Amino acid sequence: VSPSTPSRITRTVVGLDAFAQVAARQLLVAAAEAVRERGRFRVALAGGSTPRRVHAALLTDERTPASNVEAWDVWFGDERCVPADDVESNYRMADETLFSKLAPPPCVHRVPTELGAPAEIASAYEAELVREFRLRPGEWPIFDLVLLGMGPDGHTASLFPGDPVLGETRRLVVAVRGAKPPPDRVTFTLPVLCAARHVLFLVAGADKAAALRDVLAPGGASRLPAARVRPTPGEVTWLVDDSASRLLPGAE
Ligand code: 6PG
Repeated sequence: VSPSTPSRITRTVVGLDAFAQVAARQLLVAAAEAVRERGRFRVALAGGSTPRRVHAALLTDERTPASNVEAWDVWFGDERCVPADDVESNYRMADETLFSKLAPPPCVHRVPTELGAPAEIASAYEAELVREFRLRPGEWPIFDLVLLGMGPDGHTASLFPGDPVLGETRRLVVAVRGAKPPPDRVTFTLPVLCAARHVLFLVAGADKAAALRDVLAPGGASRLPAARVRPTPGEVTWLVDDSASRLLPGAE
């Protein structure tokens, strides 16, 4: 992760109603390109609540049925260390809002939270990444698309401000005690997020406006976790709704 290398950053500001449709469309474009070029679409989903509406938009997008969903490998950028049927589970949210409604379903790589200890869960998920991406030591998995959210404090996935794991340069998945409940989580590390071909941040809501202004400030000085996701040579798109963008320069 070389902070000096500017990622190709695209910023799209849309109204909340268009937000989900635009996000779904971008995912489907990435999926079509990946399946065409490599036969599989390797995507990591974001947790939290914002993706719900994007999953719903995917189900109503007329392109989805022709998108070879059975060629999608779906991973999670982070997961809470709770049972898969727990209301706080990112897997449960994605299953309820997306996987269970797709026929044929995608190939879902669920985080094995049943293993109990967060460190166990993290190393098991990392081992699955190594196996599925056929990684040699020092190699990073290259996702076609990583969806990410951002918290009001500038966290992304489960990488929280000030957490030493932000400096991780070797492991792919780590266990953290996050500031956002539930605290026990596992998360992709920054090098994994930065190895992606395309990162799509989905940021909606006025409570994100201050962090967004910091993260997108010119010159890239921000040290917030979301600001440090600078895919190289990949690109990052910030899809923000008008209330999250209200403090950005030039916002009316
Ligand atoms: C999580 C997410 C987290 C989320 C942000 C935004 O597991 O909670 O990975 O990083 O994306 O906190 O959450 P909302 O979309 O709910 O605002």
